[in-house]
Amino acid sequence: MSYQDVYNGWKNDPEAFWMQAADAIDWDTPPSKALFDKGDHMYEWFSDAKVNTCWNAVDRHVEAGRGEQTAIIHDSPITHSKREISYVELRNRVASLAGALRAKGVEKGDRVIIYMPMIPEALEAMLACARLGAIHSVVFGGFAANELAVRIDDAKPKAIIAASCGLEPGRVVHYKPLLDGAIELATHKPDFCVIFQREQEVAQLIEGRDFNWHGFQYGVEPAECVPVEGNHPAYILYTSGTTGQPKGVVRHTAGHLVALNWTMKNVFNVDPGDVFWAASDVGWVVGHSYITYAPLIHGNTTIVFEGKPVGTPDAGTFWRVISEHKVKTFFTAPTAFRAVKREDPKGEFVKKYDLSCMEQVFLAGERADPDTIIWAQDQLQKPIIDHWWQTELGYPAICNPVGIELLPVKLGSPSLPMPGYDMKVLDEGGNELPAGELGAIVSKLPLPPGTLPTLWNAEDRFKKSYLTNFPGYYETGDAGMIDEDGYVYIMARTDDVINVAGHRLSTGGMEEVLAGHPDVAECAVIGVADQLKGQMPVGFLCLNAGADRDNAEVVKEVVKLVREKIGPVAAFKLAVVVDRLPKTRSGKILRGTMVSIADGTEWKMPATIDDPVILDEITVALQSIGYAKS
Ligand code: COA
Ligand code: AMP
Repeated sequence: MSYQDVYNGWKNDPEAFWMQAADAIDWDTPPSKALFDKGDHMYEWFSDAKVNTCWNAVDRHVEAGRGEQTAIIHDSPITHSKREISYVELRNRVASLAGALRAKGVEKGDRVIIYMPMIPEALEAMLACARLGAIHSVVFGGFAANELAVRIDDAKPKAIIAASCGLEPGRVVHYKPLLDGAIELATHKPDFCVIFQREQEVAQLIEGRDFNWHGFQYGVEPAECVPVEGNHPAYILYTSGTTGQPKGVVRHTAGHLVALNWTMKNVFNVDPGDVFWAASDVGWVVGHSYITYAPLIHGNTTIVFEGKPVGTPDAGTFWRVISEHKVKTFFTAPTAFRAVKREDPKGEFVKKYDLSCMEQVFLAGERADPDTIIWAQDQLQKPIIDHWWQTELGYPAICNPVGIELLPVKLGSPSLPMPGYDMKVLDEGGNELPAGELGAIVSKLPLPPGTLPTLWNAEDRFKKSYLTNFPGYYETGDAGMIDEDGYVYIMARTDDVINVAGHRLSTGGMEEVLAGHPDVAECAVIGVADQLKGQMPVGFLCLNAGADRDNAEVVKEVVKLVREKIGPVAAFKLAVVVDRLPKTRSGKILRGTMVSIADGTEWKMPATIDDPVILDEITVALQSIGYAKS
């Protein structure tokens, strides 16, 4: 079947399409139908089914006689260690952990926050929650205590599972003090914490609150899988929105299972038993979907990689892991390839390894620039597939579905909408734009199974963020166009979200931190183009009248403040002090114009600008830090 056949098959009968995809899942009670229309543009999938995610990701493979197959390979060039866990071992470990959590009172529907580095125990913690029907919320290790506290107060977890430390090249990330600090900052307090002690740093436990990962499992009864309703939340994953308050994306259980499983063959072209590697982090949606859940649900071997594309120890790490573990499909972010390319432009490291096992490479998380794709094509001589999706959607929405058919690649486009997505480009008034014209990218409702049904504790915000501007459509927050062949091009965000090294960050959130500095009267943060990371945040600070401060000192302090409040992942290193910010007459800061000036791209003087002279001052300030080159 061609892509067009599959897509038309879905379009003609979505209900039949998803019910057929659901056949691949092991149900306790099969769904009577796929779509449940709740009215007011709210939808759910497979709501009347009963199912357990952990059973589908782990136990059923053991029952089917594949218990000895490797489920997880941990490869850590940072600790110089490698470890394999078979499906039967994984089942036993997860059942034991889930049993211990249950013995401490964790039940279906309870929230559990997971704050862990790239070790198999992070996946085991997620699966143990799934086994009990507990709702996990994984928090990325690069966030600071304050961000963790915000998530604790929103999710109100009964328990937090963490590791003693994470390991960044040349730096130990002290998770336990961050965790303790977050719990102190948060209003909600968890009943207990479980700490996985790593040998690189053993953390001090708080008597009565903290339990050792191994010790607390001793003598407990392993837990069986608890069937949950199809619309039971599997997890909450917080992602950046326009403000500092992150959005808690909810994922329902059944749609998640059906959709992720469907993508493994049709999109990523792997069969059960094949090795699949997504070089991301469990703290991001890519890690949820393609390190933990999809490969395991589909019976693949997944790789948990604790390292970086370069420097651990060199720019050949990716190729070593691929050849050593026989990876068939590799998934990474364009920024990672840019980092490798910068160190090894001629691909000397590529030549050192036998990469014949690898059949295709997928790139996502940010725009894949043509230069990077061409470099990867030249070096690897394999299809390099750009694909587009978001935390909200959970799996590829615009893609070149290699498992169905390798479509002609058009550089700069992630290709065509997948089944489930009827994408349009609309103008501000909601009118559909013709091919080639730039506008807001939207998808006709309902969204397919496995996408967000709502935001945690924030249904109004869900409706306002995604459903209100263009009634009947889901608003992606991205701007772009569709060409005459239906290929979609993603050009920019329509909100204040920026993408730094494939990490989604809120400039609004950073502005809130800067505004909290006692000498800052007003501020703005924009994302400027960066050759390696795609974008980098730059802050503009107007100081309080009478603040008799050395500008460089204030800049240093705000850089430190963002690192402390949001975390190192914000990569906030650049800020300048200016007298005034450019605004419209109605007082809106002209961030878009500032970005164009910084990047040296063409821009027009906004008709509504209050005082054009300020733009000259902004240009000079940007030039002082190496941007806005004429
Ligand atoms: N825990 C703690 N800190 C972390 C972290 C984690 N899990 N991940 C990143 N950080 C820190 C880094 O140590 C760095 O700190 P520093 O300011 O002290 O150097 C900071 O956050 C910024 O990290 P990053 O943006 O990743 O930059 P880098 O300079 O360390 O590495 C790349 C650059 C391109 C190699 C790296 O960004 C990369 O591999 N990107 C791939 C992104 C990716 O996989 N995204 C997932 C979406 S698909
Ligand atoms: P996240 O929710 O962190 O996965 O970030 C999603 C956002 O990243 C999207 O809304 C896009 O702005 C951007 N993005 C992800 N993948 C791509 C891609 N292939 N091309 C362009 N932008 C992308």
